[in-house]
Order: sequence, then structure tokens, then C-alpha cells
Amino acid sequence: METIYRKIDTENIDMSAIEEATSILREGNMVAFPTETVYGLGADALNADASKKIYAAKGRPSDNPLIIHVSNISQVERVVKEVPKTARKLMDTFWPGPLTIVFKKADIVPHGTTGGLDTVAVRMPNHKVALTLIEHSDIVIAAPSANTSGRPSPTTAKHVMDDLNGKISMVLDGGPVGIGIESTIVDVTSGVPTILRPGYINKKMLEEVVGHVEIDKAILGKPDKNLKPKAPGMKYKHYAPKADFTIYEGSRDCVAEKINQVAKEYIEQGYKVGIIASDETVDLYTVGEIVSIGSREDEITISKNLYGVLRDFDDKQVDYILGESFESGELGQAIMNRLLKAAGYQVVQI
Ligand code: TXA
Ligand code: MG
Repeated sequence: METIYRKIDTENIDMSAIEEATSILREGNMVAFPTETVYGLGADALNADASKKIYAAKGRPSDNPLIIHVSNISQVERVVKEVPKTARKLMDTFWPGPLTIVFKKADIVPHGTTGGLDTVAVRMPNHKVALTLIEHSDIVIAAPSANTSGRPSPTTAKHVMDDLNGKISMVLDGGPVGIGIESTIVDVTSGVPTILRPGYINKKMLEEVVGHVEIDKAILGKPDKNLKPKAPGMKYKHYAPKADFTIYEGSRDCVAEKINQVAKEYIEQGYKVGIIASDETVDLYTVGEIVSIGSREDEITISKNLYGVLRDFDDKQVDYILGESFESGELGQAIMNRLLKAAGYQVVQI
């Protein structure tokens, strides 16, 4: 299949591109589009055959449910059984935005979209292209991240093309995304709201609106066979670069010294080494492919670059990635959740 690639100006949206994307969605085919978090691979959420195509294109396990994207509240009411009070508050505060809410699903939502679950994840993205497409087509759009399963999520249209060119009908290129890591997922179907995946909207921000919030214990730290994550996707080894990736934790100078030493050893053995530093530490490194992932003073620069840095190391075919840790700050938990997964939880304490 030939993938139609269309650049689209967020400030001046070309409605002919939206019209073309709408026809594709109506026919039950796939369009990748930008959101504020990562690019999504969209299809009609209420059409089970269309959802099936998403799983095939991504090579995604069929028990991993999709998020439904909406552009207004009446679309939410179409796909959920009920809107609990807590959900209403969260929607009022954080939508459109990087928050996905898990509800009990309405009957019209096929199990093919929800991975067999009786719940459904819904989000209203804060991106003009996404909102215009959903609004104009009046289709509620099922969209996982538009990457091949197991690869880092796409933060540019080029990343989408690298993975899915020839497998999907269309890519709308709205430029690089703003946040760079996937939405926070919160489950409101039982008692205390529970975070199933950390993201830009953190626990503290949620608690200011709805009181006490829990975090699914299965997503903290190393995967534990006895704990099953409530978001099925969190159990997979996601976001993996091809190289062997280790995170070094400790004081700034000791970490840099250790990374320099290990990098040197690998290079002497003939391996290619990538180093993940920050703007504040990049000058401490002496060998290897040294990349600053962003500024510790401005964490959004880190989340924004995270997946792109991992993809660049794939393209450069590095054998080892040695990275700093980014524990602290408001976004620290979300960033470390992604980095730890990418590193297969290989962490060295210095
Ligand atoms: O930021 C995002 O959320 C992006 C953009 C495109 O919106 N989408 C995204 O989708 O990250 P995906 O498919 O890569 O991740 C969806 C996650 C998976 O971990 C999945 O298991 C979880 O959401 N999920 C979906 N429906 C669920 C449900 N009913 N209950 C629990 N978890 C659910
Ligand atoms: Mg994904």
C-alpha cells in the first residue's frame, strides 16, 4: 500500500487534508496523526475490523487495549456506560490534555478495541490537528502510539514513516510533538482513582482535583510476576532501543567518571557506545556518541527528546547505551518509568 504523507500547518489547517483523512477513516482504514504527547495511529474505534488493522500494522498483541480519542463530551457519553463524578472533575480540569481516563464501556464499543475488557480508555488530546480530525469526521478514533510494537513511541512524523510506511493509508505531519511521552492513565472504575501509567499529569496534580489517588503498584520498579499491571500494555517490554542500555545512578561527577571509564573499555573492545547526558553534564563526557537529552532545569525538554534520542541510537547502530538517571522533578517519575523500561531495568548504583 502507498502511504499518503501530508504536511499540515497547525495554525492554518488545510481542510482538504482533513477531508481526505476523514474518507480513509470512514472506509475503516488507518491515519496517523499528531497529538501533544506522541503520534497516534488512528482508526474508527467502533469498527472492530478497523481496530484489527491497527493491531496488524503495529504487530501489537491483541490483549493490549486501545485508547479512544474524542473531541467533545457528548462523544464520551457515546462510548462509556457512565461518567463518575471524579471523572467529570478530571475531564473539566485536564481536557483537552495528556490524561486518559478508564471508564466502564458502552455496548457499542467492540471488544476488539478494548482488548476484550469491559472497560474503555478515553482521552481528549490537546492538539489542533487531532481535534479537527475527530470533530470533522465525527468518528471516535482508537489510537495507540504510531510505532511498531516494542519500538520507542514516535514523536515526529518521520518516526511514524520509519516504522509504518507502506502499512497504513496516511500520515498527517504536524511537526514534532510537545510533550514526547504518552498520556497519564487513570482508572476511575473502582473507588479510589488509580494511576495505571505515569505521564505529564502527575499524582500531585490529580490529587489537587479529586483527593487521594493511588498508583498501580505493579508499575513501580521492576516487573514482578506476582503483580499484574492493570493497564495491559505496561507488562510488555516497551520502548526498547536495539542497544544494551544501562542507567547509572549516583552523584553527578561519580556517574560521569564511571560512564567515561565503561565507555572507554567498550570502545577499546571495538563496540560503538552512546551516552545519554543532560545539558548540565554534557561537558563531563569524553568518549563515545555523546548526546544531551535535555535540561534538568526544564524537564519537558527531556521528555520531548527521550524517544528521539533512543531512535537515533538505533539508527547509528550503537551497541551499548550508558545513561544518566533523571529521578527528580515533577516529570521525574514518568521519565524514569520510560527510561527504566527501555533499559530493561538495568541500573548501576555508583
Ligand atoms: O498519549 C497517549 O496516550 C498516546 C496518544 C496517541 O494518545 N497513546 C498511547 O496508546 O500511548 P498506547 O496504545 O501506546 O498505550 C495505551 C495504553 C496501554 O498501556 C493499554 O494497556 C492501556 O493504555 N489501556 C487501554 N485501554 C485500557 C483499559 N480499558 N484499561 C486499562 N488500560 C488500558
Ligand atoms: Mg504505545
